[in-house]
Amino acid sequence: MRLSNRIESVEESGTVKFTPLIQKLKQEGREIISFAVGEPEYDTPAPVIEATKHALDAQKTKYGPVSGIPELRAALAKQFYGYDADNIIISNGSKHSLYSLFQVLCDPGDEVIISKPCWTSFPQQVKLAGGVPVLIETINNQLDCEGIEKAITPKTKAILLNSPNNPTGAVYPKEDMERIARLSSRYDLYIVSDEAYDIFVYDGIDYKSFFAFEDVRDRAIITKSFSKTYSMTGFRIGYIAASKAIVNAVAKCQGHATGNVCSFAQYGALAALSLDERILSQWRAELERKREIAYAYISKLFDCIKPQGAFYLFPNVSKYLKDGKTSEDFAADLLERAGVAVVPGETFGTPNHIRISYAVPEDILKKGLEKIAEVL
Ligand SMILES: Cc1ncc(COP(=O)(O)O)c(C=O)c1O
Repeated sequence: MRLSNRIESVEESGTVKFTPLIQKLKQEGREIISFAVGEPEYDTPAPVIEATKHALDAQKTKYGPVSGIPELRAALAKQFYGYDADNIIISNGSKHSLYSLFQVLCDPGDEVIISKPCWTSFPQQVKLAGGVPVLIETINNQLDCEGIEKAITPKTKAILLNSPNNPTGAVYPKEDMERIARLSSRYDLYIVSDEAYDIFVYDGIDYKSFFAFEDVRDRAIITKSFSKTYSMTGFRIGYIAASKAIVNAVAKCQGHATGNVCSFAQYGALAALSLDERILSQWRAELERKREIAYAYISKLFDCIKPQGAFYLFPNVSKYLKDGKTSEDFAADLLERAGVAVVPGETFGTPNHIRISYAVPEDILKKGLEKIAEVL
């Protein structure tokens, strides 16, 4: 008996690799500081919790429409000029949105161009859909547009963008997005733009969603999430904004995979859309300050490009890798000796690096950074 080649070709998520070691150290009474988790430290805002409880009290506990409750789809469509509720589909987190999308886009052997380092699930999801991830190195964490164009073949179906980026925190400039938009028309490609971190952009940058490029709107598939934006990671709510043809195709896939997204959680999400903007501005400002703190420490220890978004640093740790050590060994060492958990670069397709999340309380951030500096 054997499992499918498809599942055998997929790598396990690297972000959980150190969980057993963390548990062991904790059992030994060690204090472990985690810079490994990709979620904001904030409590889910009270109005979201209230609306969810209210939905439970009102028995919003049954099967619902596969594509999401109409109120939420309509409210989300307002962000996208010219779109209506039928251009939006709600999924179980944007991870699920992306999974379904690749199922819908890829025939066996179809290629999806992904710039690396990249979020661990992108290439694996493409493989699970029978597609082939084509990984192109970034240059100083920015898109290598020429490299991307050279990688286009008759099998290329889509180019994936992720700005602000996990794990580098890079935000792509408008000019590069325009170049990618032109490529999508010239070579007849879809652009999947993962904008899960779009509210976490710093330095007053004028961030552009790929939706802004009107000429290629029919090719743009935007995925977004409530997880990071509203500190609702456990609600599992994400969505796709795209042409109706794409949304209907994803609905067909989702209809057989999961059915609707948790009914009462969607009412919580609806309430999140009416939150006082000042809450999000405050989170952004706090994270921007923590980026400064983290960057000041980390850039003294490692080569590190200053990120302009998300909540990660992705320093190059090569100078500490003696005798064939990998960044995975380095991360394990840091955990054992400093009691600080980080994610090794291998997880994102880029060895010799580690990912540090600074979305933790400021005192913990400073303490963890000091511990790293001490053991190095
Ligand atoms: C770049 C990126 N996209 C998508 C996701 C998935 O988020 P969720 O499924 O919680 O919406 C993550 C989560 O870490 C991410 O970093």
